[in-house]
Amino acid sequence: DKGNHRHFMEKEIYEQPEVISHALSHYVDFADHTVKPADAAIDFKNLRGLAISACGTAYLAGLVGKYWFERYARLPVEIDVASEFRYREMPLSPDQAALFISQSGETADTLASLRYCKDSGLKIGAIVNVKESTIAREADAVFPILAGPEIGVASTKAFTCQLAVMASLAIAAGKARGLITPADENELVRHLAEMPRIMSKVLNLIQPQMESLSRELSRFKDVLYLGRGTSYPLALEGALKLKEISYIHAEGYAAGELKHGPIALIDENMPVIVIAPHDRFFDKTVSNMQEVAARGGKIIFITDEKGAASSKLETMATIVLPNVAEIIAPMVFSLPIQLLAYHTAVFMGTDVDQPRNLAKSVTVE
Ligand code: M6R
Repeated sequence: DKGNHRHFMEKEIYEQPEVISHALSHYVDFADHTVKPADAAIDFKNLRGLAISACGTAYLAGLVGKYWFERYARLPVEIDVASEFRYREMPLSPDQAALFISQSGETADTLASLRYCKDSGLKIGAIVNVKESTIAREADAVFPILAGPEIGVASTKAFTCQLAVMASLAIAAGKARGLITPADENELVRHLAEMPRIMSKVLNLIQPQMESLSRELSRFKDVLYLGRGTSYPLALEGALKLKEISYIHAEGYAAGELKHGPIALIDENMPVIVIAPHDRFFDKTVSNMQEVAARGGKIIFITDEKGAASSKLETMATIVLPNVAEIIAPMVFSLPIQLLAYHTAVFMGTDVDQPRNLAKSVTVE
């Protein structure tokens, strides 16, 4: 049932504040602002490293997770798309653990990667939406994302719930490893707790702008997304979302890679969507944006209030989100990315929930 929405995708985008709040309540204690200890089957305290594997959007959630596990738990993370991971013959040892992320829990390549790690003696964690799935059954620890059924082929609420779960796990791992003080833990959890309310506010705030901007975006054949830090996987996710439902060609790049190739493509026919909260990377990303502007590129700038106030560059559009804590920025900044892809596809008249050639669950290699 789509409720008041035209598509399941739209419904699932708007459900995010509620489902994230539900997912978080499984991993954090809202009353005393602490994280609950992670499933004991994975001994985060004594781990030497983590291997993460997944496909598509779930893989991009894993890429964001990599930044968090490295930063908050000082755990080195090896991550690859499952179709490569399963055949790499990567040396692994039992003092590492492996995390597999899958909405459906049935993705063939992800399952094969899981089995490879299991054979190497690693403890297996599964971040899944479908708790009865094969990936969940074969794991030592199941971390449910509790997003509820996701019907739209383009993943939206599963992505942000996967992020919320990984943020909580990274904090729990950092705590188990003695790297996060109670004060830091408290502050991080307070930020997570604020997130559902902020997401609702952002959804209402940006909706009209996303709808009108999508009309402009639909005129282009190619779009480039740029970001640094955790906004880099978001750039990849933005490009994936746009291409899969609107069929507009889109690429995501780490902003610093611009001058190593993609800058050659910049002209007035390829808008560049820059994802840049005012974080420690902001000035660097702005200088990449200047390089785009200097070549006549059209910029769609997705930033926050501080970021908008400190850049004077002319843009095709600037989307201004509230200033938010770094730990929740990836979830909040997912919203304009999803809505822009959604409205562009609707405007172009594609089959948003069932895009051509795609299946919701890829159970063959
Ligand atoms: O069920 P899974 O999370 O394992 O699926 C992985 C990908 O097939 C999936 O995320 C795909 O990339 C989506 N269509 C993206 O929107």
